Amino acid sequence: MNRMPIIIDNDTAQDDCVTILLGLTDPLADVRAITTVAGNVSFDRQVINAQMTLSVAGRLGEVPLHLGCRQPMLREWVSAEDVHGDGSGGLDIELDESAISDEHAVDALIRITAEQPGEVSIIAIGPLTNIATAIVKDRRFVKNVKSLYIMGGSNNGRGNITAAAEFNFYVDPHAAQIVMAAGFADVHIVTWDPLTLRDATYSREQYDRLTRIQTPIAQFFKRVCDATLGFNESVGIDGSTHPDSITLAALLHPELVLDSSQYRVDIEIQSELTMGYSAMAWEKFGVKPNAHVIEEMDGPGFYSILEQMLEIETTPTRPILGLNG
Ligand code: BDR
Ligand code: CA
Repeated sequence: MNRMPIIIDNDTAQDDCVTILLGLTDPLADVRAITTVAGNVSFDRQVINAQMTLSVAGRLGEVPLHLGCRQPMLREWVSAEDVHGDGSGGLDIELDESAISDEHAVDALIRITAEQPGEVSIIAIGPLTNIATAIVKDRRFVKNVKSLYIMGGSNNGRGNITAAAEFNFYVDPHAAQIVMAAGFADVHIVTWDPLTLRDATYSREQYDRLTRIQTPIAQFFKRVCDATLGFNESVGIDGSTHPDSITLAALLHPELVLDSSQYRVDIEIQSELTMGYSAMAWEKFGVKPNAHVIEEMDGPGFYSILEQMLEIETTPTRPILGLNG
C-alpha cells in the first residue's frame, strides 16, 4: 500500500485532535510532522493538547511536533475558547520538552516539502499563518507542495465567528488571502457552511453511539468533543461538528467526496464588517479558478471511518491526567 506523506498544520483543540488521531491511525496516511499555529485556544495549551493526542495514539516522541507562529500576521489573535473550552475537556499531560522539535514549523514545512518536491500534501486546519509565512520565506514552497487541503470559509454562506466569516479565515485573513493568491497547483477547501454543517455534523444520538466505545482513543475523543457539542447545541447546531477531520478524510478517501467544483476564492481583508469573508466566484464570473471547493461529502461514510478509528486499541505513550478517572 502506498501511504500518502502529509503534514497536519493545526490549532490543536477538539476536531484538530481528531484529525491528528485519524492521521496517525489511518493506514493510508504517513504523517511526517504535526505543526501548530495560533488559533483555537492559547498557543501553549495547544501544545499540551497536541502532546496528549500524540500520546493517546502511542506516538508521542515519534512523530515530529513543530511549533509555529504564535500570532496572526497583522491582526490580534482571537480565540475560540468560548466554543472549545481548553480544547481537550480538562484533560492534561506533563509537558515533554524533549518531544518538541527545535525547528520552527515554518522551516519544517519548507524543508519537508523540499526534500520530496511534489510528493507531500498539507492539511491546513487552523488559521493559515504558517502556510503564508512559508510562502513569504521561500517561494519554492508553493511548487513543492503536492496538494493543499484547507478547512476554512463558507461557500457564500454563514460564518461562525461573525455573520460573514468562518473562524480560520477570520483569525488571519491576510494569511488566507496570501495562500489563495499564491498559485498552489492543487487546493481543496472544506467549508463551514454548507459542507460541515450538513455533512460533518453528527447528532447527539450518533455521537452517543460513537462515544460508547471503550478504547483510550474513544474516551479521549469524547472528552475533547463534549464541550464543543454543548456549545453547538446552545447556538442551534444539532450535533458534534467535524470540519477538520473530514478535510483529512477528503484527501485520504477521495471516494467520500461526492461533489466538488472549481472556484476563484478570495478573502476579504479590508472591511471590518465582513473581515475574513470568503468570496467564492464560479465560472459565470469569468475568473481564473484557484481552488476546488468541496460541495458535498458522504457523511455516513465518514461516520464509519470515525467509528473504525475509535475502535482501535492503543497504549498511550504517557498517562493522560483525568482520563479514566
Ligand atoms: C474551524 O475553527 C476551529 O474552531 C475548528 O478547529 C475548525 O478548524 C471551524 O470554523
Ligand atoms: Ca482547527
